[in-house]
Amino acid sequence: MLVSATEMLNKAVAGKYAVGQFNINNLEWTKAILQTAEECKSPVILGVSEGAGKYMTGFKTVAAMVSAMIEDLGITVPVALHLDHGSYDGCMKCIEAGFSSVMFDGSHYPIDENIAKTKELVDICHSKGLSIEAEVGSIGGEEDGVVGAGEIADPNECKMIADLGVDFLAAGIGNIHGKYPANWKGLDFDALGKTKNLIGDLPLVLHGGTGIPADMIKTAISLGVAKINVNTECQLYFQAATRKYIEEGKDLEGKGFDPRKLLAPGCAAIKEIVKEKMELFGSVNKA
Ligand code: 13P
Repeated sequence: MLVSATEMLNKAVAGKYAVGQFNINNLEWTKAILQTAEECKSPVILGVSEGAGKYMTGFKTVAAMVSAMIEDLGITVPVALHLDHGSYDGCMKCIEAGFSSVMFDGSHYPIDENIAKTKELVDICHSKGLSIEAEVGSIGGEEDGVVGAGEIADPNECKMIADLGVDFLAAGIGNIHGKYPANWKGLDFDALGKTKNLIGDLPLVLHGGTGIPADMIKTAISLGVAKINVNTECQLYFQAATRKYIEEGKDLEGKGFDPRKLLAPGCAAIKEIVKEKMELFGSVNKA
């Protein structure tokens, strides 16, 4: 059964670890992540961007697939199904479709509009038992065609959004989606610390988890980050393993063309990186 992400993230703040949000694209991704979470006895959040939802034919299909897979695989660890960077309409669709958590990304609106829309969605989500994430200060890089400049969130604006009753908050601290450029300045822990001081125990979310060095991840967790989003790294691992399989000519041997064989190395690679992240984030054996 799907659960909201509220309880797992409040526990993570108290226990000083973080729960990974791993984005899914298809059945293989979902299966690999759920199996790894179960093997690691770790809570997990499955992230679905609006683009990935569309790719998988719609949020209803996603919710039905994930719920059925949890049952068929006998998954016992807490699993949240979460809309990543949702629009207002996207959030409404996911609430309807049976997601257990949504992120409303109003970071591109003026702060007053972000507040008004977030507040409305907080009330709807809570009346239906879903958790809700909000964002202040856009995350840099490119995701699903949305390009952010990588702002540092204003701690006072974070406090204003936190006070609306959101369950966890993404605050931009120089993190970006995708690979980090060689001249990246690193995370702004000063801003993170100021935000943490203002918002208390509300779980903070770190987007752009791909490629952030382990020591920065640990420092971020010590400053209240309890949810870390990883997407690109799973894609890169899948790609590298799939490339190797084909370059070695394995698809030409016997029934190597069978999609269940062709996609197997990529799936194993996703499991490997998800396990590595769960160990780094400290969520292993926390289910
Ligand atoms: P990466 O693709 O950089 O890991 O970021 C994922 C993310 O933040 C999803 O919201």
